[in-house]
Amino acid sequence: MRKYGLAALGTAGLLALSACAGGGAGSGEDDGGGGGGGDTEAPEEVLVGVAMPTQTSERWIADGEAVEAGLTDLGYDVDLQFGNDDIPTQAQQIDQMITSGADLLVIAAIDGTALTSQLEAAAAANIPVVSYDRLIRDSENVDFYVTFDNYQVGVQQATSLLVGLGLLTEDGSEGEATGPFNIELFAGSLDDNNAHFFWEGAIETLQPYIDDGTLTVPSGQTDIEQAATLRWQQETAQRRMEDLLTSTYSDGTELHGVLSPYDGLSRGIITALQNAGMGPTLEEGLPVVSGQDAEIASVALIDQGVQFATIFKDTRKLADQAVTAAEAYLAGEEPEANDTETYDNGVLVVPSYLLESDIVYAGNITSLLVDSGYWTADEVAAGVAE
Ligand code: BGC
Repeated sequence: MRKYGLAALGTAGLLALSACAGGGAGSGEDDGGGGGGGDTEAPEEVLVGVAMPTQTSERWIADGEAVEAGLTDLGYDVDLQFGNDDIPTQAQQIDQMITSGADLLVIAAIDGTALTSQLEAAAAANIPVVSYDRLIRDSENVDFYVTFDNYQVGVQQATSLLVGLGLLTEDGSEGEATGPFNIELFAGSLDDNNAHFFWEGAIETLQPYIDDGTLTVPSGQTDIEQAATLRWQQETAQRRMEDLLTSTYSDGTELHGVLSPYDGLSRGIITALQNAGMGPTLEEGLPVVSGQDAEIASVALIDQGVQFATIFKDTRKLADQAVTAAEAYLAGEEPEANDTETYDNGVLVVPSYLLESDIVYAGNITSLLVDSGYWTADEVAAGVAE
């Protein structure tokens, strides 16, 4: 039995009761209902705190809104907060959710290691914690994790780069190109556990090509620490790309591709490359740049032949999984995991539900993103969400 099973069952039970009462025979006898229940008091409210990291990237806004909508549909109250990419702000928001009596927390952390004391307080108050997309580390008080197969996302990012260079084809077979090619590597924020999975999946995919000389990293910056981008900031990536161009490419060395793990970084990198006179399109010699998240601005760039690819992670499905997990806990049950091995947070292996992702190329924008209703054709053409 889970530590909070009974408390959670209590509230869920009340909800169920009130739902029955609501649907039943008018109002009537407040008192006499044998065995209790049936009075006219408002049902006890169930509050879910949803903490998202930032509004600077559209995916987190969509994630937050989708989780909120799913929970609201089930009759729960929702306190949705965005942390402005600022660790103390997010910690404070979660503290506040706990003091306001949240029955469950859904958290996408800014810094995966910075929430230990909040999670202790949650555990002390029997509040289940669902870690959303980014694993919360160094705490035994994480109950469940919903995410994508993050290693596989990294594999897909590197694969798209290899396809862009012509070393592979979109169906995975060997391409016509032989290289050698020069590439540079970017990573995400080191305090985000995902950044390490993306990097590992990508580097293990690229390594054989580096080992046999097909790919070279002329800057020599091949450690994740050198490639990292604090808080996933676009300007930081743009600046690093500018620095790399100055330090390594001003002698005429050609750059063919850039591994980028997030669309915001990709756009910063592309701006740096274009400002240095490359492109402006792939056809006109812009290096191949990968991405992630299928942000509308990047999908438009892919459509225009500027950014080469991105990774589509359907955040609607992720939000659904978070809502399903929340519903299970609030009914005193365990959510169903499909992975109980991969995500060790430093203290325990957190039961997880992993979703799959897809590579988006210019040729499958319609089938992956438009047909599924993620973006409309008009949004793709305009490069902005409606
Ligand atoms: C998410 C990515 C996102 C990145 C930057 C990661 O934790 O998994 O989808 O691109 O954060 O927001």
